Amino acid sequence: MNCIIDRATVDDAEKILALTKICGAETDNLSYGDEGLPISVEQERCYLESVLQSDKDIFFVVREGQNIVGTANYFTLLKRRMAHRGELGLCVRKSAWGKGIGHALMEKILAFVKNNAQVDIISLEVRNDNTRAIKLYQDFGFKKIGTFEGYFKIDGKLVDFDIMELKLR
Ligand SMILES: CC(C)(COP(=O)(O)OP(=O)(O)OC[C@H]1O[C@@H](n2cnc3c(N)ncnc32)[C@H](O)[C@@H]1OP(=O)(O)O)[C@@H](O)C(=O)NCCC(=O)NCCS
Repeated sequence: MNCIIDRATVDDAEKILALTKICGAETDNLSYGDEGLPISVEQERCYLESVLQSDKDIFFVVREGQNIVGTANYFTLLKRRMAHRGELGLCVRKSAWGKGIGHALMEKILAFVKNNAQVDIISLEVRNDNTRAIKLYQDFGFKKIGTFEGYFKIDGKLVDFDIMELKLR
């Protein structure tokens, strides 16, 4: 893997939003398509700044030269009765798949959660036909705990998602 995994800085905002357009166009696995995330560069900068200030959340970028080819984010839920839980998201552009980047990102996120966020449960939702992601999550101990029927609606068609969780305590 010829990449560097770093914490995102506010100056990565533009490239991160550009990556959401690329990844959104490449698969139907994400909550957006080729339009990417519907937020401005300024909003993304503010979000990244807030993550940098937080000791409970993290945002990693994968750098390949000047480019960002992947991201991983984790956040701890804010409300008191749910603050023992966190959620994560991963995105690697297709040209960089299969090189262990997803695996390396999961290791970084889980190390952060164990050392810093220290929550009891991490959960995620994944398209039930996204075998690559499901295999990755299973490798790190995530288990399917349910199905969210119709989690996405793409071109009028409902898409079911697996709900997965990792119990840390
Ligand atoms: C899911 C994703 C992050 C994986 O990233 P990646 O860099 O390709 O991951 P890795 O190279 O570390 O491979 C992950 C695992 O998938 C497995 N894998 C590779 N090709 C596969 C395939 N066709 N089917 C099933 N598993 C496959 C690998 O064996 C690997 O497991 P291992 O570490 O035990 O060998 C990436 O494909 C992606 O961003 N997809 C689009 C967005 C997305 O789906 N995000 C997840 C939303 S929940």
